[in-house]
Amino acid sequence: MSDLMSDPMSDPLRHIQSLLPPHNTRNVTAEAYAPANIALCKYWGKRDARLKLPVTDSLSVSLGTHGTRMTLQRAETDHLSINGQPISADSQTHRRLFDFLDLIRAPEHRLAIDSINTIPIAAGLASSASAFACAVKAIETLYAWELPPRLRSILARLGSGSASRSVFEGFVQWHAGTAPDGMDSYAEPLAPLWPDFRIGILTVSEAPKPIGSTEAMERTVQTAPLYEAWPRQVERDLPRLQQAIRDHDFATLGQVAEHNALAMHATMIASWPPVIYWLPETTAHLHKIHHLRREGLPVYATLDAGPNLKLLYTAEHETDLKAHFPHLIQIQH
Ligand code: PMV
Repeated sequence: MSDLMSDPMSDPLRHIQSLLPPHNTRNVTAEAYAPANIALCKYWGKRDARLKLPVTDSLSVSLGTHGTRMTLQRAETDHLSINGQPISADSQTHRRLFDFLDLIRAPEHRLAIDSINTIPIAAGLASSASAFACAVKAIETLYAWELPPRLRSILARLGSGSASRSVFEGFVQWHAGTAPDGMDSYAEPLAPLWPDFRIGILTVSEAPKPIGSTEAMERTVQTAPLYEAWPRQVERDLPRLQQAIRDHDFATLGQVAEHNALAMHATMIASWPPVIYWLPETTAHLHKIHHLRREGLPVYATLDAGPNLKLLYTAEHETDLKAHFPHLIQIQH
């Protein structure tokens, strides 16, 4: 109670809550959509775990029609279903989402949430980014708010760091910021996607990850001697990516994105106990991609905290790519 009565400015979460408009109770249901995103310059490492403040900036592409669609309904008790399957109230997924919603919903409101992943693959591959970005948008619609885009991004960040980027379309940059309260840590759209830019997903495994990204990040920051070099990697990669996006320079974009992803995995592998998301097929695909590049096919790979690859290529090589990787799922944007 004393916590609730304290000065809102003294606690960053209370401060953010004080910026929200009043909860309008007219609507009883709301629907929203947010795309998933794939980082070309990764977010890996937090400087504040509670506020999900990153060590570095990051830059991503949003995945258009592939993401999360949610329907919220005011209800007697909290309820969550994902892709039509009820999720137990004891599960981590349920707790994490409703704990997050407690920050922004009216305290007396319980919600029944129906969440659909429109990414054409199993849940294991869909990131929490689109889910938390979508939850913010749905709450905003429920309460008839029109939040400034920065605040929307900050709120999504409190659910999952990468969700701060999923409130926007196209190429998006998340500014790490320096303020301890995180009010300068938000994402901004940089540019729309180029029409001939293509992203494909190569699924290696749909099994649950051996270690979640939150824990893996923490372990890397605390135990990997290579992590020291990570902010320098980002400092080098970000301006090159921004320039490549401005110039529609696919080769530079692909090279920098692949290098950045591999450097992120190198820092994880250098943790103790080691964080190794790759499976033998991950390495095999990487070798094949490098071979194809040597043969003149411009294709690059990026990987998040898991064994699956996302391929970057352009429309003119789509047919070739599909011939080399028959299981490639091309993202429509
Ligand atoms: O937002 P989180 O906690 O799911 O972390 C995402 C981390 C990566 O996907 C590996 C990188 C990124 O920038 O999205």
